[in-house]
Amino acid sequence: MTSPPQTHAPGRYPAGALAFPHRSLLAIGQLETHQILFLLDEAEQWVAWNRQPNKHTDRLAGLTIINAFFENSTRTLLSFEIAGKRLGADVVNMHAAQSSVKKGETLIDTAVTLNAMRADAIVIRHQSSGAVALIADKVACPVLNAGDGQHEHPTQALLDALALRHALRARGRASSDGHFNGLRVTICGDVLHSRVARSNILCLQALGALVRVCAPPALMPAQVDRLGVEPFHDFDAALDGADVVMMLRLQNERMEGQYVPSPREYRHVYGLTPERLARAASDAIVMHPGPMNRGVEIDSTVADLAGQSIITDQVEMGVAIRMACLDVLTRRARGVEHWA
Ligand code: CP
Repeated sequence: MTSPPQTHAPGRYPAGALAFPHRSLLAIGQLETHQILFLLDEAEQWVAWNRQPNKHTDRLAGLTIINAFFENSTRTLLSFEIAGKRLGADVVNMHAAQSSVKKGETLIDTAVTLNAMRADAIVIRHQSSGAVALIADKVACPVLNAGDGQHEHPTQALLDALALRHALRARGRASSDGHFNGLRVTICGDVLHSRVARSNILCLQALGALVRVCAPPALMPAQVDRLGVEPFHDFDAALDGADVVMMLRLQNERMEGQYVPSPREYRHVYGLTPERLARAASDAIVMHPGPMNRGVEIDSTVADLAGQSIITDQVEMGVAIRMACLDVLTRRARGVEHWA
């Protein structure tokens, strides 16, 4: 099947420059605002495409994509796999638990091995911050960060922005320039260990949103205000008038020792219940990157709240964003360059 036409709003990107000049996608922090908008606009074609019965195109036919996951994943791994396959690429998944990493092979030797197989793009999730950038230095092809330690999860922030754009559009509140100017977003939970929080803070601020973060003192990064966010420990105060509430789970796998007294007490103070949500704007949008711990950071009645929760929309947008990223990052290798 032929691919959908590209749609780009004129004037969003600086004229005469390559619309996306990066070889790899390692962090939101590396992107200019117009490059974020470019990826979101590119993803729009795939949202529509993925809603058809036949979702296959041969745009990346002949290319090989390796998904190398050193940490568990459901959404990110599956959506990258689906994205690559829908674009016609050959997709191979490497699970660290069944790989020679278990025999003591180093990260660099693993990267050199993947490179020797002549992959056209490598998608990596790793438990160490900076590991993905290290691999990107050792391979010849584009590398996409699928989450590195507590550092960044750039495609999560992009899919969140796309889901938010669609939710605002459905409410008649989307701006014509694609920005989120003045939108009040509250991010609550284990901010300290969250790469999702960091990428979202950078992405949302680049698009003009006002970001509040809320966490118990032990789970708030030191000097978080340097990121330009408004920090809260009182969840009720953080929710006051919020247009968007993004909940994060407790990342127990990154904790040494006890950061919260118990899940029950955590829910009592930081759980998003229907009563708490009532403190936000009346039609506040509820988000969660998943996986959720229902009954801890978010109650089921809120997570499944029709008209306000967009958690499953986030998952849908994940495939479209990853299709856009794979398409854009392999353009140079395919001899296709997009000039703004
Ligand atoms: N949001 C997210 O990264 O989910 P997974 O860990 O399931 O990929």
